Amino acid sequence: MAAGGYAPQGRGANYEARVTGFVICTCLIAATGGLLFGYDLGISGGVTSMEPFLKKFFPSVLQKQSEAAAHDSAYCKFDSQLLTLFTSSLYLAALVASFVASVVTRIYGRNFSMFVGGLSFLLGAILNGVATGIALLIAGRLFLGVGVGFANQSVPVYLSEMAPAKIRGALNIGFQMAITIGILVAGLINYGTAKIEGGWGWRVSLALAAVPAVIMTVGAYILPDTPNSIMERGNPEKARQMLQKIRGTVNVDAEFQDLVDAVQEAKKVENPWANILEPRYRPQLVLCIVIPFFQQLTGINVIMFYAPVLFKTLGFGDDASLMSAVITGAVNVAATIVSIYSVDKVGRRVLFLEGGIQMFLCQIAVGVTIAIKFGLDGVGVLSKGDANLLLFFICAYVAAFAWSWGPLGWLVPSEICPLEIRSAGQAINVAVNMIFTFIIAQVFLAMLCHMKFGLFFFFACFVAAMTVFVYFFVPETKNIPIEEMNQVWKSHWFWGKYIPDEAVIGLTVRRLEERDG
Ligand code: BGC
Repeated sequence: MAAGGYAPQGRGANYEARVTGFVICTCLIAATGGLLFGYDLGISGGVTSMEPFLKKFFPSVLQKQSEAAAHDSAYCKFDSQLLTLFTSSLYLAALVASFVASVVTRIYGRNFSMFVGGLSFLLGAILNGVATGIALLIAGRLFLGVGVGFANQSVPVYLSEMAPAKIRGALNIGFQMAITIGILVAGLINYGTAKIEGGWGWRVSLALAAVPAVIMTVGAYILPDTPNSIMERGNPEKARQMLQKIRGTVNVDAEFQDLVDAVQEAKKVENPWANILEPRYRPQLVLCIVIPFFQQLTGINVIMFYAPVLFKTLGFGDDASLMSAVITGAVNVAATIVSIYSVDKVGRRVLFLEGGIQMFLCQIAVGVTIAIKFGLDGVGVLSKGDANLLLFFICAYVAAFAWSWGPLGWLVPSEICPLEIRSAGQAINVAVNMIFTFIIAQVFLAMLCHMKFGLFFFFACFVAAMTVFVYFFVPETKNIPIEEMNQVWKSHWFWGKYIPDEAVIGLTVRRLEERDG
């Protein structure tokens, strides 16, 4: 009952598509957009644990740390709203930018948004690298945020539209793969720059964000736009040619006709923002809000941003803390490969459900281990064995996230919306993701201070809730052509009642006409 059991039967069943080198190359280049986001996610935790950086910009935090070392609970020694604002300001900027990006993406094309994102990110990297005061530092973070907002709004949609349905999951997860590579590379760079004599290593860490920015900007400049976007912007002949090129065949009539229909539907819509609120788009609206919310409430960014701080809190040495961040980063990359291989075979739901259960169990194990070994007042000491056990559970948790909610949090919202609300839906997805990334980045250190190990139980409750939610409300979307997705909702036990018959009737009539020649 809970699984949406729709299999493509309309024109989608007649789509002809080879997996061309061209489509793989364009998708690989576009996916590098994820590097921007990943590099950011990975770099700030390490930088904010470097003493010279704190001394220059946040001397009060340093002072608090040494006081805490003397008498306070170790759980609280990093708690500073100003310090977390450095990490989280970026996500506020990204949130606002994603709405602007949705308009740019629709009117000027997906690749243009990627280009704007790359440029803004480049500017942010330069400002951060040369920052002499907190104002420039935050200004740089805001430009980086605009870059992330534009990239995250446009890249997943680009990938989902370019990819043939049967490998859409794998190609789209290229984005998440780039995110995880960005995080890992950032961790390695922090590990190296922390050792630079003279205390300016943090500058190198921040300025190197220019590298993914240049890759993305140049990449977006040379990439073609998707046939869907070319068509939406009124150029059917060019759209057909692009479709033929990416599908590696001249026989693209079935898919092209679906594009024509999708654009006709989209044309009826004057304002995608008002439209997405209509009852017929309720499933898409709900999932574009709930999926990113739940993705962040897995608590993943507690590990991604603050792994070094967390491990330091638990008594790991400076070097060991940065190294553990590299280990979790490597697990994150490796486990993402698992989802690339399996997402179009076992489907989205299996990954969501297995990942949820594994994350839940690991979080409980981490909470219990910290509670027993480290104590309520945070004055306990972890033995080497305990520390390794903890690292093991954290890695198993990261792996589960990396093959489930990590990639699917970007894939599913980008593939469930029809063309007329796709840009708006993706902007909502990015915005909600960013709000909760911001909130968690902002309150984590305070939460750790007050909730202590209970923090892990807090996130475990959300993971349990989201797993039940997926079981009942998220239909399977593997192998369904993107412009045929309405059928999935229509045949769903719960969402079906929101979808009016007209929304799928056109398809049925056409199918009958085609059958009867
Ligand atoms: C999430 C990020 C997270 C990353 C970890 C992404 O999908 O959106 O918030 O840090 O995965 O790999």
